[in-house]
Amino acid sequence: MKNTVSTLLRQKQSGDKITMLTAYDYTTAKIIDECGVNAILIGDSLGMVMLGYENTLPVTMEDMIHHTAAVSRGAENAFIVADMPFMSYQVSVQEAVINAGRLIKEGGANAVKLEGGAEVCEQIKAIVNASVPVVAHLGLTPQSVNAFGGFKVQGKSLDKAKKLIDDALKIQEAGACAVVLEGIPAKLADIITGKLFIPTIGIGAGSGCDGQVLVYQDMLGLTTGHTAKFVKRFAEVGALMRKGIADYISETREGTFPAEEHSYAIEDDVIEQLMREEK
Ligand code: KIV
Repeated sequence: MKNTVSTLLRQKQSGDKITMLTAYDYTTAKIIDECGVNAILIGDSLGMVMLGYENTLPVTMEDMIHHTAAVSRGAENAFIVADMPFMSYQVSVQEAVINAGRLIKEGGANAVKLEGGAEVCEQIKAIVNASVPVVAHLGLTPQSVNAFGGFKVQGKSLDKAKKLIDDALKIQEAGACAVVLEGIPAKLADIITGKLFIPTIGIGAGSGCDGQVLVYQDMLGLTTGHTAKFVKRFAEVGALMRKGIADYISETREGTFPAEEHSYAIEDDVIEQLMREEK
């Protein structure tokens, strides 16, 4: 059954944890959807994991629409949330509404996600007024990497913690249907979760949130190099891929692939006739 804003809200009320994973393409979205996750996020993390950028800042609306449309074609039941990329909503409320609308109309998303608290409340209100559900995103918001001076845990001081609580209440009042809490202390996430009637979805925000989200390449062991403390590798798909590709290379070089079962047959008399005529 299709997951909606109401499904997520009901899950918060009943204490049934919300599961969300990222996806950026048709094939992966289909697998994730068939596994039964509640929501799929086409994150602007695609800038790093799909396009090889250093951070999310270069991602464009065209990138987001292209990948969102592919995911929408693959996912039947998950609630589909598309990230609004850097500078697609910050400049003006009008641009925010136009760009949110494109992710719904051209990408097939069910909701959009944008980063920030009090400073983006006017955008949230206007997008919600246009009948587009908005997921907010607070804490270690990657589009603010330059302002933060790196990817650092947020909300550790009294002032910063208070500001995050205040932002969470403000985005809820503005009409957000859920909020992603990223890279904040678990105890602070518990307090925010307790104060809100909308669901909190955590990434690096402890187990007290109403749900969790992870980048699928991280949790399936497809990424190499530094991984954040909050990432759990649930499988080593990267190692499986490497083994499969190495086997393909060696069997092709040895001539054992393709075998007879991978080849198409033809009647002997056709070949015999062909060879006579080709002489
Ligand atoms: O872009 C993304 O994948 C995200 C998640 C990390 C929440 O925003």
